[in-house]
Amino acid sequence: YEKGVEELKSKIKSFPDFPKKGILFWDIFSALSDGNTCRLLQNLLVQTVRDRYPDVEAIVGLESRGFLFSFSLAAELGLGCIPVRKKGKLPGDIVSYKYDLEYGSDILEIQNTVRPGLKCLIVDDLIATGGSLNAAVHLLKTCGANIAGCLAVIELVSLKGRSNIPDGINVHSLIKYD
Ligand code: PRP
Ligand code: MG
Repeated sequence: YEKGVEELKSKIKSFPDFPKKGILFWDIFSALSDGNTCRLLQNLLVQTVRDRYPDVEAIVGLESRGFLFSFSLAAELGLGCIPVRKKGKLPGDIVSYKYDLEYGSDILEIQNTVRPGLKCLIVDDLIATGGSLNAAVHLLKTCGANIAGCLAVIELVSLKGRSNIPDGINVHSLIKYD
C-alpha cells in the first residue's frame, strides 16, 4: 500500500502560477492519462475504504473532480453514489450550504433524499482550505446522515484544511504536500 502511494505521488505533476499567480496547482488529470496510474489510484482508494471505512453504505462525491472517485468507488464496492453539486444543478427537494471564499462565496447542494442514519463517506480529489468538505459535512448533517469520514487523494497540509472540518469527523488523504 505505502509503495503504491509513493508510486502514485511520483506521477502527479504540479504547475506553478495556475490558475493564478502564486498558486501551485497539483494536477491529478495529467497523471490519469496513463491507464496503469488509473488502476493504481482506484486500487489504493478501494483498499483505503475497505480498511478504514468498512461499514460505509454510500459514497458522496463533490462536483466535479470528486465525481471521478465517488462513482468508481461506489461501483466497485456496490454502494450508493450521492452527488454534492454546485448551486442550481440538482432537481427536487434540495438542501443548500453557503460558505465564504477568499473573494465572494459559494453554494453547494444535495438532494434531501438521504436516509437518516445512512453511513456516508465523502470523497474529493483535493483538500485545500477544507471549505468544500466542510460544506458537504454540513449538508449531510442537515439530512441526518451518519458521516463515516472524508477521503481525498491530495491534501495541501500548509493550508490547514482539516481545521475547517468539524471536530470528530475522520479525515484521510492518500498524498500530502506542504
Ligand atoms: C477544487 C478541488 C476541491 C476543492 C478544494 O474544486 O477539486 O473540490 O477545490 O478546495 P477547498 O478545500 O479550499 O474547498 P473546484 O471548486 O476548483 O472545482 P472542480 O472540482 O469542479 O474543478
Ligand atoms: Mg472540486
